[in-house]
Amino acid sequence: MIHTYPLEEIGQINRQLDPCIIIIFGATGDLTARKLIPALYNLKRDNQLPPNFACIGFARREQSEEQFRKEQREAVGKYSRMQPLDESVWKEFEKHLFYHSSEFQKEEGYRSLKERLAQIDQEHGTKGNRIYYLSTQPEYFAVIIQQLKKQNLLYDVTTVKTKWSRVIIEKPFGHDLASAKNLQQQLLSHLSEEQIYRIDHYLGKETVQNILVFRFANSIFESLWNHRYIDHIQITVAESIGIESRGNFFEKEGLLRDIIQNHMMQLLTLIAMEPPANLHADAVRDEKVKVLQSIRPVINQDLDRIAIRGQYASGYTFGEKVVGYREEADVAKDSNIETYVALKLFIDNWRWAGVPFYLRGGKRLPKRATEIAIVFQRPPGILFSVQEKENNPNILVIRVQPNEGIALTINSKAPGPASPIQPVKMDFCYGAFFGLTPPEAYERLICECIFGDTTLFAREDEVFNSWAIFDPLLQHWAEKKEIFPNYTAGSWGPKEADQLIEADGRKWRLL
Ligand code: BG6
Repeated sequence: MIHTYPLEEIGQINRQLDPCIIIIFGATGDLTARKLIPALYNLKRDNQLPPNFACIGFARREQSEEQFRKEQREAVGKYSRMQPLDESVWKEFEKHLFYHSSEFQKEEGYRSLKERLAQIDQEHGTKGNRIYYLSTQPEYFAVIIQQLKKQNLLYDVTTVKTKWSRVIIEKPFGHDLASAKNLQQQLLSHLSEEQIYRIDHYLGKETVQNILVFRFANSIFESLWNHRYIDHIQITVAESIGIESRGNFFEKEGLLRDIIQNHMMQLLTLIAMEPPANLHADAVRDEKVKVLQSIRPVINQDLDRIAIRGQYASGYTFGEKVVGYREEADVAKDSNIETYVALKLFIDNWRWAGVPFYLRGGKRLPKRATEIAIVFQRPPGILFSVQEKENNPNILVIRVQPNEGIALTINSKAPGPASPIQPVKMDFCYGAFFGLTPPEAYERLICECIFGDTTLFAREDEVFNSWAIFDPLLQHWAEKKEIFPNYTAGSWGPKEADQLIEADGRKWRLL
């Protein structure tokens, strides 16, 4: 039987959300169509948006409001998690959807935006509250903020108490530590830290939020959650897709900046952190920062032994021929950029002393799978160690996506007189148990921002500490020419990545 629970009962959003307008900069881009507008539409459909709400798309392209709505309707039809599109919900939603065209640097565009906002406030009762969602190329972040400030569209939190203005910033937040600090400085001359919401959409995923509940709302795991019982931890973010049409972006960023420095470090800190004093944003983020600060600096280690990178050659994914990275549009024919990374990190603190954290992430791998595997130490193997292969470790797997769930592998006696020992799985699946599709990460994060809760957003020192870990590695890679490509699309990455873990007598999990 499928159990279903109303959203309120399982602790989903049931809060009073202030009226507001969301202004999306870069509204003709991919993220708006694939994620942001579908998220807003689904929130509307689930009655999770404030009744007094509007959204303005801000972009350079000149087009009518009608055209913008039409495009976004198509996008929702294609990308929304709820299918098919509900015409009556869309009709209602689009009455609150507007378009404003301007260059990002032009003062005039912000003057007219200000008038538009005032008019919408009047017509829709949005009370002067604003979320500015910066979904543009990072080079525009500072200029947009500057222009908004010039028009008094960003309120000073110390003096303005009757309305609020918040800014959501898409990643990448900087390109390295120095540029992240530089960007932060530019933002802080117009905003305060509490107005900045640095998005890492992994924090909006249900399964990622469940990590803290799993660890701290159960008593049986936490006592084992340390170097005395855990042999090692594997974190995998595997994607079957390539770089799609993002050649320009990828040539600048590479996989370490795209996935590891942010998403995977969020997973790692949530798995490794100490219990926070409470669930307030800063208490949680303080603990995450301590983990980052305890990571053994890579600079003192042999970088080529703890970090492997790869770039895909042409191959097959799901039986379909795909081109290599260097053949993708906007990619240099001799590109030195990585599309795969495997890493070994240590957290030098009391809890994790000596426990390796193996991380791997890549594009064009055989399947899409994000998971965290906690591999416990093997049992002593005195009574049942007839064969080495029967002495399996217990493994706890948190499946972030797809098929969201948690599985625990235990050893069991197979039926029959020969009684071999066999690993069996206890498996919890979200979908089957709760009987609902979990909301998309962006739905949750937009709501959190309207609510004014920064817990699920990265704080400045999280970002800085994470860059500090990877800066030396990025610099090393920038100077070192690799023999690329070194793995076939549709395979599990370069053989050196296997050697990285096998040198320690361990293996990557088969997914
Ligand atoms: C984005 C990266 O942040 O995350 C993409 O820029 C990546 O390259 C995506 O594909 C993965 O997100 P998800 O939610 O599909 O795991």
